[in-house]
Amino acid sequence: MLVIALCKGRFLDPSLELLASAGIRFSEDVPSSRKLIFESEDGRHRAVLVKPADVPTYVEYGAADTGIAGRDVLMETRADVLQPLDLNFGHVKIAVAAPKGTQSINGNDNPTVRIATKYPHITMDYFNARGIPVEIIPLSGSIELAPLIGLADRIVDLVETGRTLKENGLEITEVIAESSARLLINRAGYQTKRNEVRELIQALEKVVA
Ligand code: PRP
Repeated sequence: MLVIALCKGRFLDPSLELLASAGIRFSEDVPSSRKLIFESEDGRHRAVLVKPADVPTYVEYGAADTGIAGRDVLMETRADVLQPLDLNFGHVKIAVAAPKGTQSINGNDNPTVRIATKYPHITMDYFNARGIPVEIIPLSGSIELAPLIGLADRIVDLVETGRTLKENGLEITEVIAESSARLLINRAGYQTKRNEVRELIQALEKVVA
């Protein structure tokens, strides 16, 4: 039995579609259920539903053998897991954005530039690598609001279509990284459940566009 951690939210439908095309199906309607654990029809897989940011944790600690999560979440959590496969959905940019016309950060800003984000580690790593001091304002959602009402000067957030930025008068100033959905594997499980894990990787490889 392989345990697969899946994200609640916008990754759930494409994750279930991908698993189904790889032959792993669930008889229950997973997205509309309130249950958190689902057995596959073949009886060889168990899906558990968790918050996106928690998928790497479940996999790193071995509570789940595998998982599907965005590269953004992996970069932020710095989880020690294997990432054998880009699943080629959930494409977004992780970007710095600011109100239109804002000048770029040069490191001499006084006071220090304040950046609102739900990715404090990614943000710190990015600006530290450039020697630019910034102050992080941690938020958990509606990040685009922060510069509009004086909580922060800029944001670091995901940009998919760019519509949220546009409708709030913001624009990308720097792209930090590209992100998409990744298959995660627990390091120990890769050895102890070698056959099942390899079978899953191969089945997904065949159906990833
Ligand atoms: C995400 C992200 C942006 C938006 C980007 O938010 O944080 O706000 O989607 O999408 P777009 O470029 O297509 O407009 P989400 O919907 O996950 O909500 P959140 O505010 O809770 O982060």
